[in-house]
Amino acid sequence: MCGIIAYIGTRDATPILIEGLKRLEYRGYDSAGLAVISDGQVRVERAVGRVHVLEEMIQQDGGLPGTLGMAHTRWATHGAVNQANAHPHMDDVEKGHGIAVVHNGIIENHSVLKKYLKDKGHVFQSETDTEVLAHLIGELYKDDLELAVQNALKKVHGAYAIAVMCRKEPDTMVIARKGSPLMIGIGNDEYIVASDQSAIVAHTNQALTLEDYTVARLTRDSFRTTTVDNVPITPEIQELECDLGQIELGDFEHYMLKEIHEQPEAIRRSMQGRIDTATGNVVLGGISDHANELINARKIVMIGQGTALHAAMISEYLCEELTRIPCEVEFASEFRYRNPIVEEGTVVIAISQSGETADTLAALHEAKQRGAHSVGLVNVVGSTIARETDSGIYLRVGPEIGVASTKAFIGQVLVSTMLMTYIGRRRFLSTEHVDRLLGQLDRIPSQIEMVLQLSDHIKDAVARYINRDNWLFLGRGVNYPVALEGALKLKEISYIHAEGMPAAEMKHGPIALIDEGMPVVFIATRNSQYEKVLSNIEEVRSRGGHVIAVATEGDTEIASLCKEVFYVPDTMEHLQPLLTVVPLQLLAYHATVMRGHDVDKPRNLAKSVTVE
Ligand code: G6P
Repeated sequence: MCGIIAYIGTRDATPILIEGLKRLEYRGYDSAGLAVISDGQVRVERAVGRVHVLEEMIQQDGGLPGTLGMAHTRWATHGAVNQANAHPHMDDVEKGHGIAVVHNGIIENHSVLKKYLKDKGHVFQSETDTEVLAHLIGELYKDDLELAVQNALKKVHGAYAIAVMCRKEPDTMVIARKGSPLMIGIGNDEYIVASDQSAIVAHTNQALTLEDYTVARLTRDSFRTTTVDNVPITPEIQELECDLGQIELGDFEHYMLKEIHEQPEAIRRSMQGRIDTATGNVVLGGISDHANELINARKIVMIGQGTALHAAMISEYLCEELTRIPCEVEFASEFRYRNPIVEEGTVVIAISQSGETADTLAALHEAKQRGAHSVGLVNVVGSTIARETDSGIYLRVGPEIGVASTKAFIGQVLVSTMLMTYIGRRRFLSTEHVDRLLGQLDRIPSQIEMVLQLSDHIKDAVARYINRDNWLFLGRGVNYPVALEGALKLKEISYIHAEGMPAAEMKHGPIALIDEGMPVVFIATRNSQYEKVLSNIEEVRSRGGHVIAVATEGDTEIASLCKEVFYVPDTMEHLQPLLTVVPLQLLAYHATVMRGHDVDKPRNLAKSVTVE
């Protein structure tokens, strides 16, 4: 995905755009660019690398004055990472109108359109699909930018959030969305357009989220929204709940570390008003209108990608244990193209931090089309998945900025736990069982606080293995997805190769990898599979592997088998992931800092991937 920020108003646009780009940088960060209209010209600067490179370039060139402008931070989809492919893109140099476009998404029919435009004499400067759109708008432009954008979008297939301006209309900006997020922040005689609220809240808390297929025309003191067929749409203005403190680093060195430490508070906030330990009730307003569909479900299918998929895998254990409804978990990207069986009574649950992941969204569409009832477990309020599901539960863990997901994972597991308890209670779970579960859940935030105190111990342990390039993460049962998550965290930010798998699976091949001193992390808490995990630990030890265990407090037996033990407090088996994942997050964090990599913006990644 990419980040878009645009400004029209009375203030100098460039500082606002640069600041906005920095806030949106987590959405993509291989190159960045900015354009303003000043003195009847569109002036563009683009740079490969982070936003600060662009900022320095603009300063060296004497600044870019102007009160209408747009900027973009890129995560490459079409074309290499270079200056020519960075946004904004312009229409034709020779016969163009000075039209600049920033875009997040993919224009799927760009090749056909490019050929059509080339035949008409257009000359392209980049390999991007976005430049094709800029030329198309230019081709259709007849002194009305709004109309040209509307007409161009009628010819386009794919996903887009765009902002467009034209040298000939220095008081107008046109924006549009289909499939990629875009918001308008409404200030006094100014508008700030952005991919998400993090770039808006510093300026105003009044905003509107554009719906798909909406085009908006903004001037300095008014705006109107229409469909691509120019039918007016009445927008709904909302008050943003996020404040600056939630998206600033504060005393932490990295967002990831801040977000790991926010987990106890995030869980408390997410549970607030939803759990009544006195009556043993789970109250979930977002699904109560559809309780019957859930309680009577014949099958639950959970979908997601990346970390969200791991949360879904944990939910599968919770679902079977607490509801006894058959449950399947699938990568959304696979579900989508597999001709899946969706029968009457199928409920599909989409898990997503951003609510914008293209694979998850596409799978959701597929499931809905086949008649499934859909539920979203989503963090970002008002996001596409949240809006397109029949019912849902927000994670309420606050904005997550670090690219590696931490508190959202905890939120996803927590919300699934509440959902499965809600369904289970209405099916067969006894009040005693629910009371015990909710009582233990209530203790999780303070237990995570205890686990966070292990940070220095984990750092010391990591230092001993920091030169090892291959790690294994093993667990059984509900801690198997935690092993996958531990391995994903380590590889995605430290670039150390790590594999997660069921502990028993190791002996069917991966055991060949184990040599003297190889770090093997076991999630070995006391639960129904504990004894089996001990046997797997022995198998690793006898081949020279060094065992690092996440174990239950008070388990002295395991210490003699391991080089390192990270103790977590005791809790019910199905709640253990909420604790066992935390040392693994810290492990990945410390390894990355020690290796000198960018914790919050790992290479090649983006916070959410809005292309399939
Ligand atoms: C990307 C991110 C992952 C994230 C996944 C799903 O790959 O790098 O951290 O888990 O997308 O994102 P979602 O927003 O749907 O949870």
